Amino acid sequence: MSGGKLYIQTYGCQMNDYDSDRMADLLASSHGLSLTDDPAEADVLLVNTCSVREKAQEKLFHQLGRWSRLKQNNPDLIIGVGGCVASQEGDAIARRAPHVDMIFGPQTLHRIPEMLDQQSVRRIRLTDVTFPEIEKFDRLPPPSVKPPTAQVSIMEGCSKYCSFCVVPYTRGTEISRPLESVVAELRHLAAKGVREVNLLGQNVNAWRGLVEDGEEADLAELITCTSVIEGIDRIRFTTSHPMEFSRSLIEAFADVPELVSHVHLPVQSGSDRILARMKRGYDVAHYMRIVEDLRAARPDIALSSDFIVGFPEETEADFEATMELVEAVNFDTSFSFIYSPRPGTPAALLKDETPPEVKKQRLYRLQDQLERQSRAHAAAMVGSRQRVLVTGESRARSNQLSGRTENNRVVNFTPAGSDDLTGQFVDLRIEKALPHSLQGVVWEAAC
Ligand code: SAM
Ligand code: F3S
Repeated sequence: MSGGKLYIQTYGCQMNDYDSDRMADLLASSHGLSLTDDPAEADVLLVNTCSVREKAQEKLFHQLGRWSRLKQNNPDLIIGVGGCVASQEGDAIARRAPHVDMIFGPQTLHRIPEMLDQQSVRRIRLTDVTFPEIEKFDRLPPPSVKPPTAQVSIMEGCSKYCSFCVVPYTRGTEISRPLESVVAELRHLAAKGVREVNLLGQNVNAWRGLVEDGEEADLAELITCTSVIEGIDRIRFTTSHPMEFSRSLIEAFADVPELVSHVHLPVQSGSDRILARMKRGYDVAHYMRIVEDLRAARPDIALSSDFIVGFPEETEADFEATMELVEAVNFDTSFSFIYSPRPGTPAALLKDETPPEVKKQRLYRLQDQLERQSRAHAAAMVGSRQRVLVTGESRARSNQLSGRTENNRVVNFTPAGSDDLTGQFVDLRIEKALPHSLQGVVWEAAC
């Protein structure tokens, strides 16, 4: 196995991407496995999938079907399934895909090396989808660093138990990483050239870190601690819950310039009746107060959100209330989904009589409106001065560089000289808004 090849297929959110990176780091250090882009040349194939919606689950089984052919040609091949779907569907995976050798959950990925070792002794399927508390963080090697940006997972799981969501069951309840451990990782990243960090968690604003004297620090304090680390000049956090959006966090937007002018704040619905059925714990007025307070603290702040349409018993009036909220807030880019009943969640037991066609029509209307708002935000950026963190060559054109604005939009631009600007902040004037990116010119050259 030593020196072999590893292929990882990831379906899902940033948390899944983060976990896949950690699996690659872990297996590089434990078994000397290096990543490949070609599943056909891999010795170990891992698929890391979320199960928030049914679609991801189906993708998993299609993927495993394709890999079963590779295993027929190479019986030594080891196939593992990880992520939320493994926690939820472990038995179904074992039944529908008998060629899978290892099944591990988001909290047991650090145990993959032991599972691999056991495979080399005896080929039987191994399953471990337990929640061994914070052990995962302690047992992972330091993350490999890919400057200038880095994701830093500061908490695991979720204790909100929204009635539609599997996350508390698949990832376990909320567990925060201690302040000291997070700060040590941030310092390490900064020393390696990271300029922007994204503090990650399902409900990252529920993070509470124990401090030496037994007191607890909250996310606002962690942001302040992060902002004073030499080299880190941009801070993001994802995802926040409207119930934990404290006064101190809002004040951080007024006080900490390193904190970007962008917040992803999932609302799910604009109807109080549906929000109560979803067990979100807030109403529209509460959400709108946060929006107002955020805009008072940071007038240019961009807001994005998540929406679910077609939740059981959502009426036309409930949906119109969502459309009104969208109109009132004027979001930047957002995500929207048709409700997908998830086994084991309370909402899966609710009567759902809305025809699929009606749900689709609602989704199209919502997405159309969100898309229009997003395009208007991009168009309004034309002519403005935007600071981008240059991430490397543009994917569109080889003579151009690419960077990201504070509201996470990609801007492509032609550098003025031959210096490599990757990893640096550059001020650009936005010249043009394209459907998925912006075009800019270096500010000094433009003015
Ligand atoms: N922590 C976040 C929050 O505050 O809501 C959400 C994390 S969840 C994994 C990501 C998004 O998936 C949710 O915001 C929701 O819009 C969507 N989602 C979750 N469960 C869903 C379901 N059963 N059907 C459709 N969409 C769902
Ligand atoms: Fe899911 Fe609600 Fe937590 S959407 S991740 S249970 S905040």
